[in-house]
Amino acid sequence: MYTGMLHTHKLVVLLFLIHYVVKLVMLQMGKSEQLAKYTKVTKVPEMILSVGFLFSGGYMLFTTMQFTTLMIIKLVCVFASIPLAVIGFKKGNKALATLAVLLILAAYGLGEVNKAKKAGAKVDTTAVSGDAIAVGKTVYNEKCANCHGADGKLGFSGAKDLSATQLTAEQQKELVRKGKNAMPPYGVEVLSDEQLDAVVQYVATLKQ
Ligand code: HEC
Repeated sequence: MYTGMLHTHKLVVLLFLIHYVVKLVMLQMGKSEQLAKYTKVTKVPEMILSVGFLFSGGYMLFTTMQFTTLMIIKLVCVFASIPLAVIGFKKGNKALATLAVLLILAAYGLGEVNKAKKAGAKVDTTAVSGDAIAVGKTVYNEKCANCHGADGKLGFSGAKDLSATQLTAEQQKELVRKGKNAMPPYGVEVLSDEQLDAVVQYVATLKQ
């Protein structure tokens, strides 16, 4: 469900962006007649896109509840761009319309940066090194709990219940390194071999 929403959201955002770039180009080129025609024809699809955008975005926001700074900046960009776009295109104000499109573009870019950062950041376990289970817990809470839940049972975006996994430690390590479906791969640049060992040991403690 989550993955479906994420894809829907991305697609909607991309269509929105293209739609507004087209409108902006017409405005900048002074083709006001074509712009009026285009706006009229796309009125209903645009409404459907807006609803899809808010619905998919809202769904993801409320299921993850991850309000990072980047996410907040992204939301501010999106919500600032709406009135600017409405006024800019209605009044034919090129500066406002351009600003609105730039804000949508910025929000889109931030979404991508956010994603890259989340998967790629190294886990710092220096504070707890020595105790494998403690290291594992730190790694788990930072990298795995958003999908698998603190107890391993969350099942977010199709994640398997880790308290009931039948996989051996070796199979688990391989899966974490390679990733599977919605689960991203974790290479050595993110998790060291010790950290991987530790997180698999920690996962074993989630079993009842
Ligand atoms: C983005 C969400 C996400 C994150 C983050 C994530 N997983 Fe997963 N995980 C999944 C999904 C989805 C599956 C199911 C893959 C499949 O079989 O289709 C899965 C499956 C697994 C399995 C296999 C369980 C089984 O019985 O088949 C293990 C083990 C596992 N994850 C461990 C981890 C560990 C350890 C981490 C942190 C380093 C982690 N996962 C981070 C989504 C995630």
